[in-house]
Amino acid sequence: MNKEINTKIFNKFPVLESERLIFRAFKNSDAHDLFLIRSNDDVMYFMDSPTHKTLQDSEKVISSVEETYKNQTGVNWAIIENSTNEFIGYFGYWRIIKEHCRAEIGYALKPEFWGRGYMSETLKILIDFGFNDLRIHSIEANVNPKNEKSVQLLEKLNFKKEAYFRENYFFNGKFVDSIIYSLLESDLN
Ligand SMILES: CC(C)(COP(=O)(O)OP(=O)(O)OC[C@H]1O[C@@H](n2cnc3c(N)ncnc32)[C@H](O)[C@@H]1OP(=O)(O)O)[C@@H](O)C(=O)NCCC(=O)NCCS
Repeated sequence: MNKEINTKIFNKFPVLESERLIFRAFKNSDAHDLFLIRSNDDVMYFMDSPTHKTLQDSEKVISSVEETYKNQTGVNWAIIENSTNEFIGYFGYWRIIKEHCRAEIGYALKPEFWGRGYMSETLKILIDFGFNDLRIHSIEANVNPKNEKSVQLLEKLNFKKEAYFRENYFFNGKFVDSIIYSLLESDLN
């Protein structure tokens, strides 16, 4: 079997939309909104990644996101609420492993937009894009087991628990557990 991801998606950024949301490329001017997310303690509580301290931290993330798109190792979208045009969060296939047609996802919303079904709406569109346009074979999500909102979201979308790693990740002076979830196209049927 010959299976390859579709690198044509890297020729022109795929702007997408759903009923209430628009998914577009990051712009440098999104740094302030990204900072509001990545410096917020409620958002960062289970993210096990460094909290942004300055706007430059967010600007660096935007540059690195643009770099991964250029070198075809990731594709990340800003999530815009279409009724207000506000940047409310992001979703990314932030690490694409070409030879295995596998991609790892990451996502977050500003807390004032939680609980409205926005991330389920996002995942439905971007999972469809992942299998049908990017043509990956499996999608991976790495979650802190205490992150109930994210665990619930992934299970609702039929992601399967693949592994539970005990204290495998050292962050902020502590070893924390991780759950690896994955989704295959056949899980959607
Ligand atoms: C995890 C996170 C992305 C969830 O976002 P969210 O938009 O609140 O998630 P959902 O789309 O599942 O919506 C949550 C609830 O909104 C409710 N809801 C309200 N209006 C809705 C609508 N119109 N349609 C669907 N659901 C709606 C649903 O009841 C849903 O609850 P349920 O799961 O019990 O059905 C968000 O909490 C977040 O940004 N957390 C911090 C960052 C983080 O942890 N990222 C993940 C790292 S692995």
